[in-house]
Amino acid sequence: MPDHSFQHLSHSRPILVFGRDGQVGKVLQVGLQSVRQPVIFLGRSDCDLSNQNELVKVLHKYRPQCIINAAAYTSVDVAESESELAFAINAKAPHVMAQYIVHVPDGVLIHYSTDYVFGDTQQRSYLETDPAGPVDQLSIYGQSKLAGEELIQKAFLLQQHSSQEVDLNSLSRYFILRTSWVYGDGDNFIRTILQRAMKLEVLQVVADQFGVPTSAAWLAELAEILCLSKAESGIYHAVPDGEISWHELTLFLINEASLMGWPIKVSVKNVSSMQTKDALLKARRPYNSRMNNAKLKQLLSILAPSKTCPAWQDQVKSYIAAYTPTTIAAND
Ligand SMILES: NC(=O)c1ccc[n+]([C@@H]2O[C@H](COP(=O)([O-])OP(=O)(O)OC[C@H]3O[C@@H](n4cnc5c(N)ncnc54)[C@H](OP(=O)(O)O)[C@@H]3O)[C@@H](O)[C@H]2O)c1
Repeated sequence: MPDHSFQHLSHSRPILVFGRDGQVGKVLQVGLQSVRQPVIFLGRSDCDLSNQNELVKVLHKYRPQCIINAAAYTSVDVAESESELAFAINAKAPHVMAQYIVHVPDGVLIHYSTDYVFGDTQQRSYLETDPAGPVDQLSIYGQSKLAGEELIQKAFLLQQHSSQEVDLNSLSRYFILRTSWVYGDGDNFIRTILQRAMKLEVLQVVADQFGVPTSAAWLAELAEILCLSKAESGIYHAVPDGEISWHELTLFLINEASLMGWPIKVSVKNVSSMQTKDALLKARRPYNSRMNNAKLKQLLSILAPSKTCPAWQDQVKSYIAAYTPTTIAAND
């Protein structure tokens, strides 16, 4: 059994980031450069999060004040046959991080979660107060991420019940940032569509799933703001304003890239729509991935008004503009 007794830890210093090489992790490496606290970035080769003993050792070694967990098992379809691994990385590892951070005065855990924790129980956009699940309507990935959320909250609840140990004014906090359709420097829908649109004359895209694309760069900024804040613990829906289907998003990408002079082969009229059920994917996807961001907006209006939830269109346009057709095609 891993040694989870973190009680003896006193003032810990650095910010520790897991998931250095992922989409969000890569931008965190840039954004956190200006923070005065030391920051340590760890990739899979530094700490395999499927191994709890290794994680515990790493936490004892670096004694972080703040943990930003941008690592996750994100292969949604493969997870259907790798349930144990998905739960180890997405549920048990964040639990260990939370069990550590609750013993750190003023400690902060920032953890990213997903729209996949919702099982199509609502027609409107989900609020943080809406129940997640039901579990039998979630993919394994969604179940493992939901278990991660629950275990983090459980560790913090236990802290509240045994708070003799910690000064109430310096109780540690957690932020679970639920997001959707993330794009940054990595494999993602937007990059894939731009690559295909430059190669193919016909595309077929799912039209019955609705959500909102979210920039990894903005998600990293949120972590930077929150880890230095005194904001209240909780779940926050971290998505920009607006909503769209994958099919409509494809049309938007083609239009924008064409306007920017990219050599797009496919014309908008040759992008046909299809239904999720015909995509024959292993894992179940939510049809409704829309999440209400009012709670986060309210918080940002106090902490960082200039960083409030942008319109998704602005973020996507900036993302395309930051690349060239050659750099996007090179990652194909
Ligand atoms: N991508 C999306 O569309 C999306 C949507 C909703 C929520 N989210 C959530 O947002 C967060 C960030 O997503 P992202 O798109 O940045 O993910 P990503 O690009 O897939 O990066 C995940 C990172 O986790 C690392 N990782 C995986 N298994 C590991 C292990 N056993 N030990 C240590 N590290 C491990 C990966 O390492 P390697 O680089 O070595 O593979 C990778 O760098 C995640 O919590 C994800 O669940 C993502």
